[in-house]
Formats: sequence, structure tokens, C-alpha cells
Amino acid sequence: MGNVSPASNFEVLLSSSQIAARISELADQISSDYGGTTPHLVGVLKGAWIFMADLIRHLSLEATVDFLGIQSYLSGTTSSGEVKITKDLDASIAGRDVLVVEDILDTGHTYHYLRGVFSAHQPKSLKLVTLLDKASRRTIPVQADYVGFRIPDVFVVGYGLDYNQQFRRLPEVRILPDIG
Ligand code: IMP
Ligand code: MG
Repeated sequence: MGNVSPASNFEVLLSSSQIAARISELADQISSDYGGTTPHLVGVLKGAWIFMADLIRHLSLEATVDFLGIQSYLSGTTSSGEVKITKDLDASIAGRDVLVVEDILDTGHTYHYLRGVFSAHQPKSLKLVTLLDKASRRTIPVQADYVGFRIPDVFVVGYGLDYNQQFRRLPEVRILPDIG
């Protein structure tokens, strides 16, 4: 795996303070919408774990958590729609108010697949919160119920998002240079 170039040279798309401010707003909205219930947050690994950790600390209601591990098969930097589950859920979601937590919606293939898997297990409700949304890239009509930021058609890394497992640790979201 070749290193691209030092990440400090990548253009910052979203600073850590912008991200923090938006997550606080999202958490207020979610806390209000789920008032009186205990939502079950299901984080999609690995990209979403940093976002989920920050989001849950801003909620003003109790929430339970679980994680689903997946690998999307990529052609270049685009998902093919083939998804492999690498870690299953620990607990049943039947009858639960499930809020899926994703890092990014791109073509929509991955969430389209996951929505089918989750729905089959009869949650009471099923919603999606995604930190980032590249709406212009959608080839399957899926939408998130809560969106942190709509972003243009650029490949981004940082704040949990990777390129070949690199750059997840960056505290901000940066644009990976020279990639479609
Ligand atoms: P989709 O199936 O095309 O919606 O792609 C969703 C998955 O592709 C995300 O969960 C990410 O893992 C990955 N992905 C899509 N765009 C980016 C990006 O800009 N940076 C890092 N990962 C991305
Ligand atoms: Mg992902």
C-alpha cells in the first residue's frame, strides 16, 4: 500500500470545529424526535465509529448501541454494491427503534443493501443518520433521515473515513488529491 502524500497537504473540507457544531445540532434534533423512547444506535464499521462516539455524547436521552461490520467491494473508489458482513449484530433489533449510523452515503448501494437486511429483522422503526452525503453520486434512490453535511463529488478522508485504511485518525475531513 503506497502512501499518497502527507495528509497535512490535503485541502480541509470540514474543520473539526465545524464537525463538532453540526453534530451537536444533529443530536438535538435526534433527541427531540426520539423523545420518550430509547433508540438503538447501530454503527456501521469501520467508518462510522468516530462519528457515533461524538454523536452519542450529545444525545439527551438514553440509547443502546451495537455495531455491524461490513466490507463494501470497491471498483476504484466506488462501491460495487456487493457487501460482505464481517461482524454481525450482537442483539436482536426486533421491535427496536433502530437508528443506523453511517459515515457517508455515496452511490447508495451499501445502505440499500443494509436497509434490506435490517428491515428483515422487524425493527419498530428504521432511520439513518449519515455524517456526509454525496447526493450527486447516487445511483440508487436512498436517502438519509439526518444528514450532517452535503458534500460535492470528491473523495474525502479523516474523521473515521479512510483510503485503503489510511487517514482515519485525522480530526477533520480532508479531500484526497488526485482521485476521482
Ligand atoms: P455507497 O455504497 O456508494 O453509498 O458507498 C458507501 C461506502 O463507500 C461508505 O460507507 C464508505 O465506506 C465508502 N466511501 C464512499 N465515498 C467515500 C469517500 O469519499 N471517502 C471514504 N470512503 C468513501
Ligand atoms: Mg462505510
